Amino acid sequence: MMNVVLVGCGAMSRQWLDAARQIDGLAIVGLVDLDAERAKARAREYDLTRAVIGTSLDVVLDQTRPDAVFDVVVPAARRAVAFSAFAHHCHLLTEKPLADSPENARAIVEAARQAGRVHAVVQNRRYVANVRRIRRFLDSGAIGAATSIHADFFVAPHFGGFREEMAHVLLLDMAIHTFDAARYMVAGEPAGVYCQEWEPANSWYRQGSSAAAVFDLGGGKRFTYAGSWCAVGFRTSWESTWRIVAERGSLIWDGNDALKAEVVVPGRDGLFDKIEAIEVPPLDPADRIGGHLGIIQDFMRAIETGTEPETRGTDNIKSLAMVFGAIESAETGRRVAIPTQEGQ
Ligand SMILES: NC(=O)c1ccc[n+]([C@@H]2O[C@H](COP(=O)([O-])OP(=O)(O)OC[C@H]3O[C@@H](n4cnc5c(N)ncnc54)[C@H](O)[C@@H]3O)[C@@H](O)[C@H]2O)c1
Repeated sequence: MMNVVLVGCGAMSRQWLDAARQIDGLAIVGLVDLDAERAKARAREYDLTRAVIGTSLDVVLDQTRPDAVFDVVVPAARRAVAFSAFAHHCHLLTEKPLADSPENARAIVEAARQAGRVHAVVQNRRYVANVRRIRRFLDSGAIGAATSIHADFFVAPHFGGFREEMAHVLLLDMAIHTFDAARYMVAGEPAGVYCQEWEPANSWYRQGSSAAAVFDLGGGKRFTYAGSWCAVGFRTSWESTWRIVAERGSLIWDGNDALKAEVVVPGRDGLFDKIEAIEVPPLDPADRIGGHLGIIQDFMRAIETGTEPETRGTDNIKSLAMVFGAIESAETGRRVAIPTQEGQ
C-alpha cells in the first residue's frame, strides 16, 4: 500500500482524488490546506474519514509518515512544499508548473536528486491519445521529419482566483502544456525563443493573457505559438489546434478528434506537388494515456520498480525552460537562448 498526503485542496484536487480512488494500493492518509475547511470538505466529499487533516504540511507529514506527497498547491507555494516533502523522505508528484521561477525549478530538481526521491510533474496533456499518435506517426517517417510546428490556443475562461492576479498568466499557467506537447511530439530540443505578450483592451487578467512566441526546437525545427486567454469567440480545444509541416507532408489536428495527414506523391498538378491523404495509425497499446490517472499510475510504477517516470522533473524542466525563456524575451524584447539543462 502506498500512503500519500495531498496538499492543496482547491479546484484541481478533485481531479487528483477522482483518479486516486480508482487506484488499488493507494491510500490518501492526509489532506492539507491553508484553509482547513477546504481540506475537511474534500475529506467528506471523498469519504476519507480516517485521513489526518491539517493546515501545515510539515505537521501532517510528521503525524502520518507517508511514502509520497501529492502537491496541488498554487505555483508560488511549490518550492516550500517540495522541500518539506523531501525533508520527510517522501517521493513527490506535483501539479504543473514544476516551479514559479527558474531558480526554484533548479532548486527543487536538485533537492529531489539529493534526497534520492522520485519527483515528477502532472504534465497531463501529453497523456492524450492523439498526442501519442502524432509522436508515433512522425517517428515512423511517413511524412519525413517535422520542420515547422504551429499551435493556436484561444480559450477565454473566467476562473477568478490567483490567475487573474498573477504575472505572465498565459505563459506560466497554461502555455507549458502546449510547449511540452510540441517538444514531445517532434522530440525537440529547445534552443531559443522570441516572444511578445500583451493585454487586449477587454482582458480581465492583470498581465500576460495574450502571447505569441517563435521557438527554435533544434535541428532546424521552428515552433510558433499564438495564444490568448481572453479571446472570445471561435474557442479552440484546450489542447490547441495544430499544423505540423514535415519534409514530405503535413498533419493537422483540431485538438479534439480530427487528426489528418497528407503526403506528397510523385507528379505535379500544375504548380503543385501531388498529395494524397495518409492515415495516422490508431493508438498503440503501448502508448500511455489517461491524464491525471495515467500519470499517477506511472509515478507509482516508477517508485515500485526503481525507474524514472516519463514526466520526471529532470525532463519537465526543459518545457519549463521554454516558458521562462519566453517570459524573459517578452520582458526584454530580445531573442533568449534556452540553456540546455546539462546534468539534469
Ligand atoms: N494539470 C492541469 O490541467 C491543471 C489545470 C488547472 C490547474 N492546474 C494547477 O493546479 C495547481 C492548483 O490550481 P487550483 O486551480 O486547484 O488552485 P486553487 O487556488 O483552487 O487551489 C489551491 C489550493 O492550495 C492551497 N494552498 C496554497 N498554498 C498552500 C500551502 N503552502 N499549504 C497548503 N495549502 C496551500 C490554497 O489554500 C488552495 O486551496 C496550480 O499549480 C495550477 O497551475 C493544473
